[in-house]
Amino acid sequence: MLLYGASGHAKVIISCLQGNQTDVEAIFDDDVRKKELLNVPVIGPYRADYETNNQLIIAIGDNAIRCRLAQRISHAYGVSVHPSAQIDPGVKLGEGCVVLHGSILQVDTLIGNHVIINTGASVDHDCMVGNFVHIAPGAVLCGGIRVDVGALIGAGAVICPNLAIGKWAVVGAGSVVTRPVPDYAVVVGNPARIIKNNKLL
Ligand SMILES: CC(C)(COP(=O)(O)OP(=O)(O)OC[C@H]1O[C@@H](n2cnc3c(N)ncnc32)[C@H](O)[C@@H]1OP(=O)(O)O)[C@@H](O)C(=O)NCCC(=O)NCCS
Repeated sequence: MLLYGASGHAKVIISCLQGNQTDVEAIFDDDVRKKELLNVPVIGPYRADYETNNQLIIAIGDNAIRCRLAQRISHAYGVSVHPSAQIDPGVKLGEGCVVLHGSILQVDTLIGNHVIINTGASVDHDCMVGNFVHIAPGAVLCGGIRVDVGALIGAGAVICPNLAIGKWAVVGAGSVVTRPVPDYAVVVGNPARIIKNNKLL
């Protein structure tokens, strides 16, 4: 496997891949000062001609950056699922996804491309999780939830059943979402309320 991005998130993905006895051969990173991460060589900016038979995972936690890179890069993408994650056989998982340690994906849930299901997160039955979403550590999605492209569900947040979270929305860490969240909204608290719009794009 190849990674793009030599960050803390990449360390977790290396650990995830090692859990499946999958080696990371090299990491691309635009910061040429970086030379290695957890004994994996960091080899500079992405090169389309490098080991084209080896799959790539974009190991960058920021959803907007991950999205921009994926639109630019046509490498074959891999997937990494840690052996401690529990995924129902009915779950569909898109390319470039990582499903990290101890997370749970329940029956009839659909996960898009380049999604991060982070450590200990739980996504229950019949959820639809769009491309470039990040479900942060310990977050809980109840059943029947739709999360649109690029949204961040913060660490430890809880989303009540059958709600929609709009595209590029942000749910603050520890928040409890009891109503639908509009596109680009940043919501925090219990019950979660809008505090501003996400201007990242
Ligand atoms: C919601 C969030 C994006 C807001 O960050 P921000 O834009 O920098 O906003 P600020 O820190 O300026 O906070 C704005 C206000 O919201 C409050 N607030 C921020 N995050 C909050 C949260 N998670 N819960 C409750 N209130 C929160 C702040 O106290 C502040 O209130 P004030 O105006 O009364 O002082 C951020 O706090 C957050 O929770 N990010 C998710 C982090 C995460 O889980 N990442 C995943 C890592 S793997």
